[in-house]
Amino acid sequence: MPEEQRDDFKVLYEITQKINSILDEQELLDKVLEIAIAHLDAERGAILIADETSPGGFAVVIFRNFNARKDASEYAASSSVVKRVIESGEPVLAFDALSDERFEASRSIVAQRIMSIICVPLRLQDKTVGAIYLDSTRSRGKFNAETMKFLAVFGNLAAVALQNAKRYGHLTSENTRLKNEISSVHLFPGIIGRSKTWKAALDLVQRVLDTDVSVLITGESGTGKELIARAIHTQGRRKDKAFMAINCSAIPEQLLESELFGYKRGAFTGANVDKKGLIEYADGGTVFLDEVGDLPTSLQAKLLRVLQEREIRRLGDGEIRKVDMRVISATNKDLREEIKAGRFREDLYFRLNIVEVHLPPLRDRLEDITILVDYFIKKASEAHGRQLKRVNPEAMALLLRHPWYGNVRELQNSIERAVVLSRGEELMEADLKLQQYTEDELLQTGLTLEVFERKLVEKTLAETGNNRTRTAEKLGVSLRWLQYRLKEWGSQKGRPDG
Ligand SMILES: Nc1ncnc2c1ncn2[C@@H]1O[C@H](COP(=O)(O)OP(=O)(O)OP(=O)(O)O)[C@@H](O)[C@H]1O
Ligand SMILES: [Mg+2]
Repeated sequence: MPEEQRDDFKVLYEITQKINSILDEQELLDKVLEIAIAHLDAERGAILIADETSPGGFAVVIFRNFNARKDASEYAASSSVVKRVIESGEPVLAFDALSDERFEASRSIVAQRIMSIICVPLRLQDKTVGAIYLDSTRSRGKFNAETMKFLAVFGNLAAVALQNAKRYGHLTSENTRLKNEISSVHLFPGIIGRSKTWKAALDLVQRVLDTDVSVLITGESGTGKELIARAIHTQGRRKDKAFMAINCSAIPEQLLESELFGYKRGAFTGANVDKKGLIEYADGGTVFLDEVGDLPTSLQAKLLRVLQEREIRRLGDGEIRKVDMRVISATNKDLREEIKAGRFREDLYFRLNIVEVHLPPLRDRLEDITILVDYFIKKASEAHGRQLKRVNPEAMALLLRHPWYGNVRELQNSIERAVVLSRGEELMEADLKLQQYTEDELLQTGLTLEVFERKLVEKTLAETGNNRTRTAEKLGVSLRWLQYRLKEWGSQKGRPDG
C-alpha cells in the first residue's frame, strides 16, 4: 500500500471516530465540512441536503468562505456539477473547470473563474441524500483522483453519521415531549384529559402557575373552570395562603359589595361589628371571581379600582388596606359581547384577562369522554360500593354520541347515576338515562346558534341513518354546506358519500 493511501486510511479512521461521536446535527455538519476543506486544502465548501421545498430539490445547509448562503447556493447548488452528482449519484472532479467541456454551459463557473471543483454524493443505501461541494479558484488541478476517492468514502461515512444524528435529534425531542406530557398529567392529579385542545389549555395553565398574572378562565358551564382555578392556586406559589372563591352571580348586589370589601361597624343599619371582606381574607393568596360576567356594573368600577391600586377600603371606613393577591376569574359568558352590549367594562376586562384559558366543550373532545368515563366509573363505584368495571360498547357509543351541553358535570352526574342503578360489572345502555333536550330547554340554556345548528344536524343525521345527502335535503341545505359544517365541527358522523 503506498504511503499516501495508508495515511488516508488512518485519517479516515480517525475522522470516523470523531464524527460518529457528534450527535448534534448542526455541529456534525460543521465538522464534516471543516474536515473536508482542511483535508483537501480547498478554498470554499458547502454541504447540500435533500429538501423538497428548494428549487433543485437540494438546499445548502452549511457553507464556508462563500460570502453568503445565497452565493453558496448560486455556485454550489445551482452549478451543473452538483446537479450531475445528485442525479447520477457519482462523484465529479474537474481539474480545470474553465476548459472542461462538461461545464461549458455553466456561467457561474466562468464568472467565478473557478479552477478546480470536487463534489461527492452523500449516499444512504441507494439514495443520494445530499452532496459535499468543494472548489478552489487558486490553482488548476487542485484535486486529483486520490483525493476524490478519499472524499467519496468520507461522504459515505458522513451520510451515516448524519442519519444517526437526525434520528437522535428526533428521539430527544420526542423524549422531551413525552416528559412534558407526563409532568402536566402528574402536576394536576384529578384533572383528566388527553385531547389536544385540553392539553393545550393545561399547558397554558402550567406556564402561568408561578406568575402572578391575572387569568380569565372561559368555557361553557361544566367544563371545569373552577377545577382549573383551584389547580392554579394549589400548584402555584400562593398555595399556603387562602383561596377565596366569590360567586358574583349568587349574591345580591348590596350584599356582594360588603362581602367583597367588608365594612366598618355602623356603616349601615345592621352593621354591628367590623367585618373583614373576602378580598382582605385573600391577602397573600388568591381571589377567585366566579361568574365574573354577572358582576353588577357599579361593583365593576369598584373592583377595577381595587385591582389597580391593590388596596381596599371597607364600607364606611376611611382606612386604606393593602392587599397582595392573585386574581383568577371565570365566566361562561362571552365578555366581548357583554362589553359591546354595555354590560361589562372594557377596562376591567383587560385587567382580568391578562391570560385567557379557554376550556373547550366536551363534545369537541371525544378522546376525553372515554377516559373521563373510566375515571368517573372508578370514583363512583368506590363511593357507592359497586363492582362496575367497564362500559359495554353500545353504552360507550351512546356516550360518545351525546352532545353533553352540560359538559363534564353532566357526564359525571350521568355516570354516577348509572353506577348506582347498575348491577354487575358492566355498564349497559339501559343504565344510562341521558338527558333529553327539548327545544325549549335548548333555547333556555342560552345556547349559541351554532350549537343549536349542530344539535339539529346531529338529530337529522341520526334519523337518516347517517346519510348526509338525505340529511341535507331534510334540512333544506346544500350537501356542500353540510359537509363544510361537519368538517368544521370535526364530526365523523355521516358517510362522506352518503
Ligand atoms: N377535566 C376534568 N377532569 C376531572 N373532572 C372534571 C374535569 N372537568 C370538570 N370536572 C368536574 O366536573 C364538574 C364541573 O366542573 P367545574 O365546576 O369546574 O365547572 P365550571 O366550568 O366551573 O362550571 P360552571 O360554569 O357551571 O360553574 C366538577 O365536579 C369537576 O370536578
Ligand atoms: Mg363554576
